[in-house]
Amino acid sequence: MGRRTLKPHSDTPGLDAQLLLSEILSQTRTWILTHPDVELEGIQSQTFVRDLARCEAGEALPYVLGWWEFYGRRFKLSPEVLIPRPETELLIEEALSFLMTHPDRRKAADVGTGCGGIAVTLAGEIPNLMIVATDNQLGALRIAQINAHDHHVLPRTWFIQADLLSPVGARFDLICANLPYIPSDILADLVVAQREPRSALDGGEDGLQVIDRLLAQVPDMLAPGGRVLIEIGADQALVAQAIATKSIPNSKVEILQDLAGRDRLLVVDTGD
Ligand SMILES: C[S@@+](CC[C@H](N)C(=O)[O-])C[C@H]1O[C@@H](n2cnc3c(N)ncnc32)[C@H](O)[C@@H]1O
Repeated sequence: MGRRTLKPHSDTPGLDAQLLLSEILSQTRTWILTHPDVELEGIQSQTFVRDLARCEAGEALPYVLGWWEFYGRRFKLSPEVLIPRPETELLIEEALSFLMTHPDRRKAADVGTGCGGIAVTLAGEIPNLMIVATDNQLGALRIAQINAHDHHVLPRTWFIQADLLSPVGARFDLICANLPYIPSDILADLVVAQREPRSALDGGEDGLQVIDRLLAQVPDMLAPGGRVLIEIGADQALVAQAIATKSIPNSKVEILQDLAGRDRLLVVDTGD
């Protein structure tokens, strides 16, 4: 029943139905697959019907589930945070590569943390990392804090409500950010704008307004020899590179591509 109901609304109806059932029955997906004739009891059946109705009404599956996976960890979600995306794993890989080759650099920032995906993942992977995570939405910070607690990194993460890094009086070895970067007029026509918070997506007129403001803050916030990693839209490389070069003099600026071969990550390195 689930698969059929979800078919018009999803490219992966079978998988979606399995995820909903595994949540309701507290079983793994493998268990669900090997028990195709399982019967749902009263409340379970009601929950399944309610969840399917939410999906049919256009709600994204991760919000219905209340969680989504990012870099091998499960993150709690609420409608106040963006669903973490696989594209952002490139930023994680580059951040980990920097941190592993620079074992004395352990002060990091995650600007616009959302559900805490970047901050919690980095703190989880690097046991002595200290990371400040900011967001201008209090609701997002609450969820990020819960995720830090669930993944046992709360003592090494600081959550601050801020416009980018403005009230944070510190210098960081590594500044990471996945901020809104969709141009406002394009966003208006995208389905994602109806499903996820606009405050997490809207990058202003050219899509780069929030990133531009962060890059202007970087010279006062980055330690000498530090690195900046900022996720960008696939068609924003040239402009983002030009803004970074202007905002952070004497830096090396490059763009990295994601697994689909699209420009995805702005990397800024400064000399010692
Ligand atoms: C694209 S979402 C990304 C969330 C998370 N970093 C991720 O990768 O899943 C952008 C986040 O930046 C936050 N944000 C937007 N403008 C901001 C600002 N001026 N200062 C701080 N956070 C901001 C939004 O609330 C949202 O949580």
